[in-house]
Amino acid sequence: MSGFSPEWLALRENADRAACNERVRHACAQHFSGREALRIVDLGCGDGSNFRLLQPYLGRQQFWLLIDHDPRLLDAARQRLTQWADAAELSEGRLHLRRENCALTIEFAQADLAVGVAPWLEGADLVTAKALFDLCSKDWIAQFARELAARAIPLMASLSYDGREAWQPPHPADVAMLTAFHAHQQRDKGLGPAAGPQAATCLRECLAQAGYKMVHGASDWQITGDDAKLMAALAQGSAQAVSETGLVAPDVIAAWASARIGALAVRIGHEDLFAHPPGRR
Ligand SMILES: C[S@@+](CC[C@H](N)C(=O)[O-])C[C@H]1O[C@@H](n2cnc3c(N)ncnc32)[C@H](O)[C@@H]1O
Repeated sequence: MSGFSPEWLALRENADRAACNERVRHACAQHFSGREALRIVDLGCGDGSNFRLLQPYLGRQQFWLLIDHDPRLLDAARQRLTQWADAAELSEGRLHLRRENCALTIEFAQADLAVGVAPWLEGADLVTAKALFDLCSKDWIAQFARELAARAIPLMASLSYDGREAWQPPHPADVAMLTAFHAHQQRDKGLGPAAGPQAATCLRECLAQAGYKMVHGASDWQITGDDAKLMAALAQGSAQAVSETGLVAPDVIAAWASARIGALAVRIGHEDLFAHPPGRR
């Protein structure tokens, strides 16, 4: 398993929501405007955060397939979505939800995307993924883009990490820590040697090569000291990853982490992207 806890995903959901690039989301909403019913596939769904973020901008009847390899996260998604809805009914493994004036049907699939994504794409009007592509290898992303293109399916990819990170105030170990963090990020997370900080660029290039048209823009996390829990979790997570690389001395990591837990602010670079096959708006 990838080791993303439901607590971590819940902690970051507000930052993800605030980071969302309005222009990109608008392009996605516009593309589907007038479509009442849509079938959407969310890859690496976690606890359903991306569904909650995008659902208000799509048609009134939505059929979602939420895919993840971690059964704990799929359970968390079922629970959170049941609580989130105005009304919920579970029938034959599917969740039927009502939220405001939308009818939402959700199926869940426990599957390893390393095995292949193609079978999950059949019949989809839209594929979505949030905070996934930095875990994937460049080869996986290239193959994914080809599979999408073969079926002419649009993609809404949110929060793809782009390697930028700026803490305030600066710390002498920032560069060494970020370099080592990127080295850790590029380890194999189950989908081949991960694209890590090159995820956003790689995704764009692969989709362009497959003939897609795109709207993309920054969706940076901008976290301040007011969000102390998230700030501390980020600092501790980075310190842990860096310590696993052996690239930075333990005392330097400890000094950096204790300074960062009380940092004033951090900006972490991400990109949102809406891509659609040629010939469509
Ligand atoms: C950073 S989390 C993002 C979760 C969710 N999309 C969100 O934005 O909150 C990455 C997600 O990808 C899932 N994942 C990672 N590798 C996977 C794989 N090989 N197959 C299926 N899911 C995977 C993880 O379990 C996790 O839920």
